[in-house]
Amino acid sequence: MQAQTSLKRALPVLLTSVLLALTASAQKVEPTEENVAKGEAIYKKNCEMCHGAMGLGDGPASKRLNPKPANFQDKEKMAALTDEHLFKHITKGDGPMPAFERKLKENERWMVLYYVRKFAK
Ligand code: HEC
Repeated sequence: MQAQTSLKRALPVLLTSVLLALTASAQKVEPTEENVAKGEAIYKKNCEMCHGAMGLGDGPASKRLNPKPANFQDKEKMAALTDEHLFKHITKGDGPMPAFERKLKENERWMVLYYVRKFAK
């Protein structure tokens, strides 16, 4: 009886840890070479039309945008922006920029963020 009760108590905790471990794989990733390369592919498909191949904010779709996309090569400006700020804008969108919350998984949003950082390096 006693053992059964403690198992009942432990089960939710155990299940929560398993769930957390499973979802963690889709969350924040490290800026490894492989992840940056994946970020590049994501950028070309989802961002380049506005932000431009070199991150200058001069993609073909940027012409009719107001405000214009940021210049990712501006070292001073990019250094002043935290990862949290960039991640939030990629997730929630920014003015004419659409939100990528549903289109890209959380780990993919980090990968493309790391690639965007490369423009100012
Ligand atoms: C429809 C065009 C468009 C697309 C597609 C787009 N963006 Fe943007 N993005 C913009 C514009 C315009 C701004 C600037 C908005 C402003 O200044 O208010 C912006 C802002 C940003 C910012 C914030 C920069 C800052 O100075 O705070 C980041 C980061 C960003 N975009 C990354 C991305 C990434 C990564 C993708 C692809 C996953 C993407 N954008 C796709 C148009 C776009």
